[in-house]
Amino acid sequence: MSARPLIIDCDPGQDDAVALLLAFASAEELDLLGVTAVAGNVPLARTESNARRIRDLAGRPEVPVYAGCPRPMVREPVSAEYVHGSTGIDGADLPEPSRPAEPAHAVDFLVDALKAAVEPITLATLGPLTNVALAIVKEPAILANVREIVTMGGAIGLGNVTPAAEFNIHADPHAAHVVFEAGVPLTMIGLDVTHQAIATPPRLEAIRALGTAPAAAVCGMLDLYGARNLATYDHGAPMHDPCVVAYLLAPGLFEGRAMRVDVELGAGHCFGRTVCDLHGRSGAGANAHVLERVDADGFFAMLTERLARLPAVPI
Ligand code: RIB
Ligand code: CA
Repeated sequence: MSARPLIIDCDPGQDDAVALLLAFASAEELDLLGVTAVAGNVPLARTESNARRIRDLAGRPEVPVYAGCPRPMVREPVSAEYVHGSTGIDGADLPEPSRPAEPAHAVDFLVDALKAAVEPITLATLGPLTNVALAIVKEPAILANVREIVTMGGAIGLGNVTPAAEFNIHADPHAAHVVFEAGVPLTMIGLDVTHQAIATPPRLEAIRALGTAPAAAVCGMLDLYGARNLATYDHGAPMHDPCVVAYLLAPGLFEGRAMRVDVELGAGHCFGRTVCDLHGRSGAGANAHVLERVDADGFFAMLTERLARLPAVPI
């Protein structure tokens, strides 16, 4: 089977970094055309630089990285240094990137790549949806060449950044609304499923035992991410963004169902919430495939095996 053309939009971010490494390690299945960075967990200058650092760590210098939008479409910017640290990838301790980002803006790259696509492209989004939404607004015709969008964001249940909203959606709900209304195949990987894929100590030790530079970076980040998560929940680091790449590689590890999902744009307690019509009460047609379950052991077995494929030391 030929590799799937893919663009990853991200806001590294410790879990984004693990997701990128998983994708970089899977060149046989994923033809990574480019990585686009967006402001989110930390400001854009950090997210785009971190994407390039992770690219170096993975030994994939040929994959272009593009800097995108430095702020959400409408609301005031928010970030998550309290989770990911001031660098965005605290615990990884990576050197300066070996080469610059591409000169084109991420939104222009998304538009140009999709307009020129000879095979539909999958968009995997790991952060706020600002870049993807603005590409759609700028050139709606690109939607004809989107195979599907797989997005880490939202929740059927409770949020993580407010009682009602998940960070990626809450950070740019207007962009999320554009994407959820785009009418292309959309798989939503929300907190309900990502909080089933927890980097427990035994799972982290299996990765640490690889003894490679990527494994050390992953464990350094997840040790910190897990500790910060324990301050709120009764478990360690949820593998939010890596679930997106794992779904592309092994969809059979996941279960979900089609349903209508609306993004709450009104001010108040539910601003930025994904309202998931689990029981079809709205009568509106489904616009998303919403994942609900993951085989966590199968996920970590695949993650560990793939991380082992990366160069032991940066090339
Ligand atoms: O809510 C979790 C999501 O927000 C993850 O993508 C994390 O990296 C942050 O972007
Ligand atoms: Ca992210």
